[in-house]
Amino acid sequence: MSAVLEVRGVGKTFGGVTALADVDLTVSTAEITALVGPNGAGKTTLFNVISGFGAPYTGEIVFDGVRLTGRKAHEIARLGLVRTFQTPVGFPSLTVHDNLVVAAGGHGFDGPQDALLRPRADRRGLRAAAERADQLLGEAGIEHLASAYMAGLSPGDLKLLEIVRQLASRPRMLLLDEPAAAMDVNQIGTLSRLIRGIAAQDVGILVIDHNLAFVLELADRVHVLDAGRLLAGGTPEEISRNADVRRVYLGEEAA
Ligand SMILES: Nc1ncnc2c1ncn2[C@@H]1O[C@H](COP(=O)(O)OP(=O)(O)OP(=O)(O)O)[C@@H](O)[C@H]1O
Ligand SMILES: [Mg+2]
Repeated sequence: MSAVLEVRGVGKTFGGVTALADVDLTVSTAEITALVGPNGAGKTTLFNVISGFGAPYTGEIVFDGVRLTGRKAHEIARLGLVRTFQTPVGFPSLTVHDNLVVAAGGHGFDGPQDALLRPRADRRGLRAAAERADQLLGEAGIEHLASAYMAGLSPGDLKLLEIVRQLASRPRMLLLDEPAAAMDVNQIGTLSRLIRGIAAQDVGILVIDHNLAFVLELADRVHVLDAGRLLAGGTPEEISRNADVRRVYLGEEAA
């Protein structure tokens, strides 16, 4: 079943600064939706209000028919709406595989030696979590990182792990804040394939990124935010042709 995220007339101020004003946005699980705009446009602020981080806002946000306004971040995550963070979360002294075992429900897992000391029922749960970790590594195309320690990962590989870690909870919509930042060309390729694979399983994607080539190639719909207001929305082709967008976002002179 498709889920839809609806942002209706959302506004947010910090002291005297208007971070968001009257933002309307719909994200469907059937599409990959991107949100772009200059630094300080309000993109991360919009992610924060959607996912329940930070102080109240005006307007209304509804996910899959459920009103999110006023709900806490963990409640929103439990509804299947999950966001990634700029700074990856995890266990640096564990491998990528073992981080995913923990994320997949191998609670309290403390490395391979720990498995031997557990009662039988616990070991079954751990085996299921390990199988899920293998499956996630395969689906994401990062099997080559399985036995690498998280502490030794490059910034780009850390971001890949962060996304895959969030998939362990089987979300219905993922909000990705600048996933391609700090990634090299190969990692961006893996990232694009990963995001397409997630979307193909009917998981909604809303992605913020400053890498326009990546965004325009990946997204079905693109929304442009400027100084807290939506400036334009459309297909990548429409957005790259839009004169307002070119002027404000790309810094081009008006023709
Ligand atoms: N916690 C906060 N307190 C005060 N002002 C804030 C806070 N968070 C954001 N702002 C302000 O709100 C505006 C929008 O910031 P936001 O981080 O959402 O922009 P952004 O589009 O994500 O930018 P970037 O592309 O640089 O990440 C900016 O003017 C910023 O200074
Ligand atoms: Mg931001």
